[in-house]
Amino acid sequence: MKKVDIIFDCDPGHDDVVALLAAVAHPEVFNILGITTVAGNNTLDNVTNNILSVIDHLEFDIPVYKGYATPMRRDPSPAAGHGKTGLDGPVLKPPSSKPQDKHALDFLYETLISRDEPLTIVAIGPLTNIGVLLMTYPEVKEKIEKICIMGGGIYTGNVTQKSEFNLWHDPEGAKIVFRSGVPIVMSGLEVCHAGGILHTEYVKLEGRGRASQLVFELYDFFSGNMKSKGIDWSPIYDLTTILQIIDPSIFKSEMFSIDIETEGDLCRGMTVADQRPFVKKESLNVEVLMDVDREAYIGMLFDALDILDKRYQ
Ligand code: BDR
Ligand code: CA
Repeated sequence: MKKVDIIFDCDPGHDDVVALLAAVAHPEVFNILGITTVAGNNTLDNVTNNILSVIDHLEFDIPVYKGYATPMRRDPSPAAGHGKTGLDGPVLKPPSSKPQDKHALDFLYETLISRDEPLTIVAIGPLTNIGVLLMTYPEVKEKIEKICIMGGGIYTGNVTQKSEFNLWHDPEGAKIVFRSGVPIVMSGLEVCHAGGILHTEYVKLEGRGRASQLVFELYDFFSGNMKSKGIDWSPIYDLTTILQIIDPSIFKSEMFSIDIETEGDLCRGMTVADQRPFVKKESLNVEVLMDVDREAYIGMLFDALDILDKRYQ
């Protein structure tokens, strides 16, 4: 299999970290060109420090570029569930590595424009960096193979009944991306819920090795939100984008025609799917993952962590 060159656009975030670990565990699949950060789960400074601390802790060698500290037209608003820092739970040292001097927008543009072959963007935070990129430099569209997004939902939301956090946080950025014409693979809430990890499963990671222990500590905190509601599993949202690239065969997907609602208390950021019987084939702009073999999904996570754990023995 030809390696997939990716740029990893994120707002770490417990599940963002798990997604990065799964990608780093598979160097035969991924060539990670860089990480760009964006305000979302927490402030830009905090999410950037979070990923740098994880990179130091696990001795990864990936450049990090800071992106936008605010959505295109809104005030930033931290996500519930990730704690005060955006990565509460594990006690990690403050980072000794630093972000690159270059802004994420410049990194994205320069990397894309200089390429002969298109690359994949994995976008697992609010779509501010990617929205500004496509608005400012539309010529890069042909250099993007696809954008693998965690965001949205066909039937459900999480911030509101119908709005998912990443797209709710920056609906204007999301609208630009969904209308761009660039191929999109969307890991929405349906598939992320279908792949949820049971609380009896994540506890098995405790003490297994450096990477597993980190995910145990992350989920021991992050699962608190679902536990408080009497639910016995938690989603690992962002991980879906990475596992889908590694093994699409465990997922079910459908094409939809999707636009983004930018207004409204209940529907701001909603992925509005056109389900009218006369929807035209040409308007189907998003491949939406709808379901997954849950055991295979969790198995892939455990396998990835085993691979990483062995590196530290
Ligand atoms: C998304 O929002 C964030 O809280 C998670 O990191 C994920 O990207 C889920 O709605
Ligand atoms: Ca995220």
